Amino acid sequence: MKVLVTGGAGFIGSNFVLRAREVRRDWQLTVLDALTYAANRASLDPVAEQVEFVEGSIADADLVYSLVAEHDVVVHFAAESHNDNSLDNPWPFMESNIIGTYRLLEAVRRHGKRLHHISTDEVYGDLELDDPQRFTESTPVNPSSPYSASKASADLLVRAWIRSFGISATISNCSNNYGPRQHVEKFIPRQITGIIQGVKPKLYGTGANVRDWIHVDDHNDAVIAIIERGRLGETYLIGADGELNNREIIALILELTGKPADWFEHVNDRPGHDLRYAIDSSKLRAETGWAPRYQDIRAGLRQTIDWYAANEAWWQPAKAATEQVYARLGR
Ligand code: NAD
Ligand code: TYD
Repeated sequence: MKVLVTGGAGFIGSNFVLRAREVRRDWQLTVLDALTYAANRASLDPVAEQVEFVEGSIADADLVYSLVAEHDVVVHFAAESHNDNSLDNPWPFMESNIIGTYRLLEAVRRHGKRLHHISTDEVYGDLELDDPQRFTESTPVNPSSPYSASKASADLLVRAWIRSFGISATISNCSNNYGPRQHVEKFIPRQITGIIQGVKPKLYGTGANVRDWIHVDDHNDAVIAIIERGRLGETYLIGADGELNNREIIALILELTGKPADWFEHVNDRPGHDLRYAIDSSKLRAETGWAPRYQDIRAGLRQTIDWYAANEAWWQPAKAATEQVYARLGR
């Protein structure tokens, strides 16, 4: 099977390529990635000989049409992915997340190929802390930020192309990922790499905000399960029952790095900051048999901390520029 992976030089996409090389050795993989600030080509170094790499944008119609024509399946990770950036400058989110997805949809429609579209639980908006409900596949979309609105827009385009044009596609909406090779702008790697440099973790607002954490390998195993066993036209929510608030995550990172429990600081909150995300992944589990392997976030965080400690050359080049952006935003 020839698989085109968009965004394969980013966090989840590169972990997908590495994992697929391990568990699906018969897949032939091509990565299409624009190499934005969020990409890191070094993530693909271990498989450079086995994976074709094309530098380019999913918003480039001619390039997308010709690449899609040569593959059987498109796994679509490419996106602008950071909420704080979307509040600062929304345009790249519109171009990559909405127009880029439109280009892929037209290409898979024209060439009759299979698409799996990767999305986020943030399209559903947020939940109250004490709400007994979690997101399901039938929760209405209600995004809060330019990022989540652009992802919701892309999801709706995919649904419309399934219904109106009968394309062979599936969608997954996953909760917050953590693990190796995540850009240092994101919550967990920002704190881990800060601690390595002697800087205190930075908590937005009160830190009561809850995220439903999942290890990136569990996300990618679910994506493989949906590609192989998902029903065409369906949406699947991916989550590992990992709800923790941001204070609890910082407490765990401080404990695992041997720092005092109060060694962190509060910074300005994010405007419109979603309070809580929580996923009910029963449909995915029942239909595909998928279950997360990382049941214990402590073990997953230990592995992630060790990876950042051992791979300073991977993240150092992006760290100073990232913190300059945060300094400008007062966060
Ligand atoms: P990331 O920012 O680490 O990587 C995104 C990659 O896409 C980068 O390599 C970048 O160069 C590439 N890209 C961006 N615009 C492009 C374009 N126009 N053409 C080609 N390539 C382009 O993001 P990530 O965290 O790996 O997220 C991957 C996908 O998973 C996104 O669609 C995101 O919405 C979704 N998602 C992320 C999370 C999470 O916790 N990080 C959770 C659920 C879903
Ligand atoms: P983030 O990794 O940006 O993911 P998302 O916005 O998609 O959930 O942030 C995760 C949570 O951590 C979110 O509630 C914002 C918070 N946060 C901090 O408290 N401090 C930080 O330095 C960052 C980057 C995020």
